[in-house]
Amino acid sequence: MTKYYLTTAIDYANGAPHIGHAYEKIQTDVIARHFRQRYDDVYFLTGTDEHGIKMQKTAAAQGVTPKELCDSNVAKFKECWDGLGISYDQFIRTTDVEHEEIVQKIFKKLQDNGDIYKHSYTGLYCSGCESFLNPRDLTEDGLCPDHLKKPEEVKEENYFFKLSKYKDRIIEHIKKHPEFIQPEFRANEVLNQLEHIEDISVSRSKESVSWGIPVLGDDSQNIYVWIDALSNYITALGYDPEKPSEKFNKYWPADVQVIGKDILKFHAIYWPAFLMALDIPLPKTILAHGWITIDQTKMSKTIGNVIAPKDVMETFELEYPDAFRYFMMVTAPTGRDGNYSDVDFKERVNADLANNIGNLLNRTLNMQVKYFDGEIKPEFITESDNEIAKAAISTVENVKAHFDKFEVAEAAQEIVNFSNIVNKYVNDTAPWGLAKEEKMLECAKVLYNVMESMRFIATMLAPYCPNIANDVYKQLNISINPCEVKLDSLKWAEIPAGKITEKEKIKPVFLRVDSEIAGASKKA
Ligand code: MSP
Repeated sequence: MTKYYLTTAIDYANGAPHIGHAYEKIQTDVIARHFRQRYDDVYFLTGTDEHGIKMQKTAAAQGVTPKELCDSNVAKFKECWDGLGISYDQFIRTTDVEHEEIVQKIFKKLQDNGDIYKHSYTGLYCSGCESFLNPRDLTEDGLCPDHLKKPEEVKEENYFFKLSKYKDRIIEHIKKHPEFIQPEFRANEVLNQLEHIEDISVSRSKESVSWGIPVLGDDSQNIYVWIDALSNYITALGYDPEKPSEKFNKYWPADVQVIGKDILKFHAIYWPAFLMALDIPLPKTILAHGWITIDQTKMSKTIGNVIAPKDVMETFELEYPDAFRYFMMVTAPTGRDGNYSDVDFKERVNADLANNIGNLLNRTLNMQVKYFDGEIKPEFITESDNEIAKAAISTVENVKAHFDKFEVAEAAQEIVNFSNIVNKYVNDTAPWGLAKEEKMLECAKVLYNVMESMRFIATMLAPYCPNIANDVYKQLNISINPCEVKLDSLKWAEIPAGKITEKEKIKPVFLRVDSEIAGASKKA
């Protein structure tokens, strides 16, 4: 039984989701769906981060309680993820009672072990990061480099965690396990940050932050958000310092934890230190993705360029989220920053999904009907030693190898490259010409190769475009869902002899997003 546990960052519930949040959830979903095609038991966790000063301030500004604010935003996140087909198994909220109780126990255990001490402190706090900043990391104007806001000077007595005690062990772990931080180029950044690491504040006074989990046995303090937030990855599984649950023992350590590059420090330094202090194994991989800009500009409420996934769905009247999911995954190499623009979106999905895949399938099925009445005879079935079959089979291996390194964009490119090969094959062999010359067996074999290729493409594409892939399967008269096909059982020449389709059943699986037919068919 192979298990695979993967998580996303939990989003701050002080606003509605935008395409940056969506980028991460889609990336994790594509990885989850791919590994479901390879492993027996994939468990996918996502959720929301609901405590802290940011939540408290936003709620106050809107005249609602923090819990009311969270409830209404959590509903928006869930609706958005459902609309995008995010196939999570569990949605954790840090206001879940079970989570809060275990966080208190975790804090207590760290105290009992001597990893937490009380200390008076003056520091610069950025509520955007929910973190104290080191003066060294500020911009020349004294602003937080990520949020471009002046941090607030805070003077308090807080609990501190002995992060510095774990510095050497973390450095050693990163150096010994190149797979721990992905993409690998980010590891150096973390090693540099580790050079300057100091103990960190893990609580705030209730006076300054009232919306948080109380420290057991100390009425004056609330647990500061990062211990609370990071612990979600284990509390969701029912971890308990006194008696870890079966589910925890089954799924932990996580196979991959997907996060944005801005919170890598918390996941590659704080999180391992907390886990070491609790004597829990570290996750296998922290995958840091890049950021999404809009028309090459950082998304921001002030600029007013924040886009939600539903804006894209509405602009292009998309029936399925597939094209949006696909575009987000190919907009940048995995780990690098990506950009969204309507023009790029249109060009990319029209080229790859409408022309390369949709048209090819449509043309092929139409020829199958025209020349063979939609019938595959046993002698049409080709062997797996022909060039197209070999390319299909090696594409599956390449896609798997990319996913093993979490190269989601690169794996998609392999699929597109293969579809280019198939398109070229059709143009070179010209089955319509073969039919004209009455070379019917040759023509039938070309069409069979293309239909088999389409089955391979749909199977590999299913994690990105589950609905379109399923429609391709339906067009090929295959009744199972491609998401449920195991890649290791994907063999050549499985489309059986018999009637595959008839004229009335042939439908385009993906129309160009700007075509008049697309608009008209959607409106009809
Ligand atoms: N609550 C913390 C994470 C705690 S994880 C234990 C947080 N929340 S967030 O809402 O600000 O961000 C959630 C995730 O969305 C982060 O991984 C962040 O990098 C990602 N993104 C937010 N804006 C983004 C873009 N514009 N582009 C891509 N991802 C971005 O941080």
